[in-house]
This record gives sequence, structure tokens and C-alpha cells, in this order.
Amino acid sequence: MTDYEFNGAKDWQDFTARQSAMSDSEASGETQQNDLDWELAKEHREIISSMILASVQRKQGDICLLGAGPCNDIELIPMVGHFNRVVMVDWDLASMQEGLAKQEVLPDERFVQLLGADLAGVKDLLDVYARYPTPELMEQLKEAAEQNNPKLDSGKFSVVASTCILSQLMFKIHECVREKNEDFAHLMFNVRKRHIELMLDCLSPGGIGLLITDFVSSDSLPEILKTDRLQQVLQKGIKEQNFFHGMNPQRIHLTFGEESVRQQIDSLEVTSPWRWQTRRRVYACMAFKFQKKVS
Ligand SMILES: C[S@@+](CC[C@H](N)C(=O)[O-])C[C@H]1O[C@@H](n2cnc3c(N)ncnc32)[C@H](O)[C@@H]1O
Repeated sequence: MTDYEFNGAKDWQDFTARQSAMSDSEASGETQQNDLDWELAKEHREIISSMILASVQRKQGDICLLGAGPCNDIELIPMVGHFNRVVMVDWDLASMQEGLAKQEVLPDERFVQLLGADLAGVKDLLDVYARYPTPELMEQLKEAAEQNNPKLDSGKFSVVASTCILSQLMFKIHECVREKNEDFAHLMFNVRKRHIELMLDCLSPGGIGLLITDFVSSDSLPEILKTDRLQQVLQKGIKEQNFFHGMNPQRIHLTFGEESVRQQIDSLEVTSPWRWQTRRRVYACMAFKFQKKVS
């Protein structure tokens, strides 16, 4: 079952966050991250950086970082040492430039490349829809999300890491689509599936995809601040629809079972959750690690 084929209140709640669990655009568009966010993200950054480095055994190939933004979650210098080329993609170029400067990495035509792009491909349409919501525009939105094809190097990367951007793609939809109905769910589904397909498009055969994502925060689930039973607290929260819109981890997992994704991957692993501390709140994060088929 896809998450827009629902037929009643129960299924509907399964993918829609309860009101108090709204997602948030904390880092999106904020180019003035201060040093505190960098400090606070230390553990989160170490988890993600070591996960990436461990995914290829020796220096090989290129890496693509989707939603790189200020790079509070990636140690860039080891990436530059470990990969032949680091390509960072985000619609906020200034934020990536600040991130590079903070870590004293020089953008270099050959080794470190920055690319500004709308990774969901529906920003402009969503902005129009927020003002003039019509059924025709919604149809266009769903189609555009499904066909989104930003100009990224196809089949070139040994690792593609999506670093906490998926929740932001969902947040934008939540911000612009007022009606929380079947179309809302369908659109979120299309954006999420296309994001994973895009990661697969960029990977070379046998390459590793890391879909790293936040899915709930301490705003709606304050228990995550202190508990030493994080997994159990999160499982209970998920049962109670306490996650960001479109970010139910079980539904994300199901997306990997969609034909267009499933037929391209050899393996899928889900990590244990961890915390990402920011100035305003703590997020719960997890990663889906998958390998693209060799042929
Ligand atoms: C929460 S931040 C990701 C964390 C970031 N890697 C860091 O280290 O802080 C989300 C990033 O996604 C970017 N973003 C949000 N929507 C986007 C879109 N449609 N296309 C490209 N980038 C987008 C934002 O600019 C932001 O840098």
C-alpha cells in the first residue's frame, strides 16, 4: 500500500503528524548559523561522518551530499581525503559557502563543487499554490514532483548522502498546502519517492545511498531529551503519530518497497536512532543505508 491509498481515519493518521508534531524549518534558509550550532551538532556530525567514511573501504570514487547547507553535520576535511570529488547540493549556495569557510575547505573546481538546485523541483509551484490553491495546480504539482529531474551527475557517485533535507522538503509542502487531505499525502509521497530515486540515479552501480533524516523533535516529544531508552520512546511516539508530516519512519521504509526503488537496490539497512542537538530543540534522526544493484 502506498501512503496515499488510505481509506479511513486510521490510515490517514498513519502518515499525517498530529497537530502538535509540526515539522520546522529551523535550518532551512537560515544562513546565519552560529558557532553554537556547530558545537552542539558534534555528536550528530561524528555519527554521520563515520557512517559515510565506513561505507567505502578505501579512497574511491566521488561523493554527493544532498542538502549540505551549512555542513554542521559533515566533517568535510576527511571527506576531501577519502573521495576523489565532493559535490555538495543545496538551494542555499551562501549557506554551503559559509559551511566550507567554517571548516577551512577551499571550493575547488575539480575536488569540491557546490551546486545550487531545488531538489524537490516544486518550490515555485508550491509558492503559487499557497496563494491560489486549485485542483489543476495540485495535479501539476504531483506530476512535477514525480518527474523532478535536477541536473545532477547521473551514475557518477560511489556514495550519495542525503543529510536531513527530506524533512525540509516535507515542511515546504506542509507550509504551502493547507488542506490535509489525500492530495497532500499523495504529494508528500511523490516527493519522498522521487528523492530516493534521485539518490539512486546519482549512484554508480554498487554505490551506497545514505538517507539520513530527522523525523521528530523534542518540541512534540520532550521525552527524547533525557531518556536512555531512545528507541522505545520513539517507537511509542510513532504509534501515537508523533512525527513530522510525511516523516513516519515506517512509511519511509515502505517507500523502498516501491517497484521503481526496489528493483534498483540490493540491500537496505536501517540504523538505530540518535539525537541531533540544536540551539532550539533536539531532533531524533536515523539513516536508511542502501546499495544500488551492480547490474
Ligand atoms: C536541516 S538542513 C540540513 C542539515 C545540514 N546538512 C546541516 O549540516 O545543517 C536542510 C537543508 O536543506 C536545504 N533545502 C531545503 N529544501 C530544499 C530544496 N527544495 N532543494 C535544495 N535544498 C533544500 C536547506 O537549504 C538546508 O540547507
